[in-house]
Amino acid sequence: MLKFVTAGESHGQALVAWISGLPAGVPVDFGFINGELHRRQLGYGRGGRQKIEKDHAEALGGVRHGHTIGAPVALRIENRDWSNWEHALAVEDRPEDRDQRRPLTAPRPGHADLAGALKFGFHDARYILERASARETAARVAAGAFAKLLLREFGCDILSHVIAVGHIRLERAATWAEIQAVCANLDSPLRCVDPETELRMKQEVDHVLRAGDSVGGIFEVVAHGVPPGLGSHAQWDTKLDGRLARAVMSIQAVKAAEIGAGVAAAMSYGSEVGDEIQYDAAKRRFVRPTNRAGGLEGGITNGEDVVVRGYLKPISTLRRPLGTADLVSKQPIQAAYERSDVCVVPAGGVAGEAMTALILADALLEKFGGDSLAETRRNFDGYSRQLDEF
Ligand SMILES: Cc1cc2nc3c(=O)[nH]c(=O)nc-3n(C[C@H](O)[C@H](O)[C@H](O)COP(=O)(O)O)c2cc1C
Repeated sequence: MLKFVTAGESHGQALVAWISGLPAGVPVDFGFINGELHRRQLGYGRGGRQKIEKDHAEALGGVRHGHTIGAPVALRIENRDWSNWEHALAVEDRPEDRDQRRPLTAPRPGHADLAGALKFGFHDARYILERASARETAARVAAGAFAKLLLREFGCDILSHVIAVGHIRLERAATWAEIQAVCANLDSPLRCVDPETELRMKQEVDHVLRAGDSVGGIFEVVAHGVPPGLGSHAQWDTKLDGRLARAVMSIQAVKAAEIGAGVAAAMSYGSEVGDEIQYDAAKRRFVRPTNRAGGLEGGITNGEDVVVRGYLKPISTLRRPLGTADLVSKQPIQAAYERSDVCVVPAGGVAGEAMTALILADALLEKFGGDSLAETRRNFDGYSRQLDEF
């Protein structure tokens, strides 16, 4: 139902996102969209790039007078750093630019550099790393903000927090209110709900900064207010847990995705991980005192918060680079060092929110349809009555 693609290189003129399938009439708040882009740029352990960029999105189509019009939405996010790369990455093949290219022939382990160079037959990994770069997540976050704006209309909000940085882990569950509070605090260095743990996480980042190393970690995305019945058990590719896992795994450096307490559940007894079902007569809804399933059973939302975790590997670019082999000479050499973040877990979480929002918005439109927001709402309200009367 909802499709989106992105284009653009890390140091090109701009990033572009294209979203189709949004109903007409969704209010578009650019303050919110740009706020999301700002959140992606935050976090302790980011590199110099975030000081250069001040991301904001402009709509080139699909939005008129503050609302979607049912046409594809095209977004553009300018790269300020382009002014430093105009010659190195010129669009046209101008003779005067030829000696200003910045070829990268020492492929960095852990990056797309070598695999992409082999795949496309380039002896310079520059074009590969420019596109593989997680700068692309800015376009995803802008697209995801549109999905969030749609979901908001149906009472669903999506946020994330950090539950591990390197070896430091939050050892308790976080409430929705705590996650809201830490997300509202833009000064929070690592978006962890527990200040003491956050301080230790910060020290972990300081430690790797000093050592010329890097860290990964775990972010947790929580979607609150999701109606039961999104996704389907009926086919492998309609199962929402699989769709969410794919979306979160597609984020740069995410090497594992987890729904609810999935990883711990694999090492527990059945009696320890089930969520009992109760009926709340006042709400006229089935509820669970626990949510280890992360809001999904059989690939269908069950009305509890949808909880998706992304596991980020440590950033691969190191100030003390690993060994590699030169693409041209084939000789051993140290991997190239490009200005780099050392910890991106909070930013990864914002990208995780965007991907979760895009998948949930897709599933919502699949269930309720509608060319206009009013039509989607009518269908949603009919289903809510069906749940009331169940
Ligand atoms: C928000 C964000 C920022 C990132 N910044 C960097 C970075 O500065 N340096 C780096 O080496 N990798 C960074 N990465 C990770 C790489 O983009 C990623 O590891 C690389 O493209 C290879 O893809 P893969 O790890 O998914 O296989 C970042 C990832 C995210 C989510």
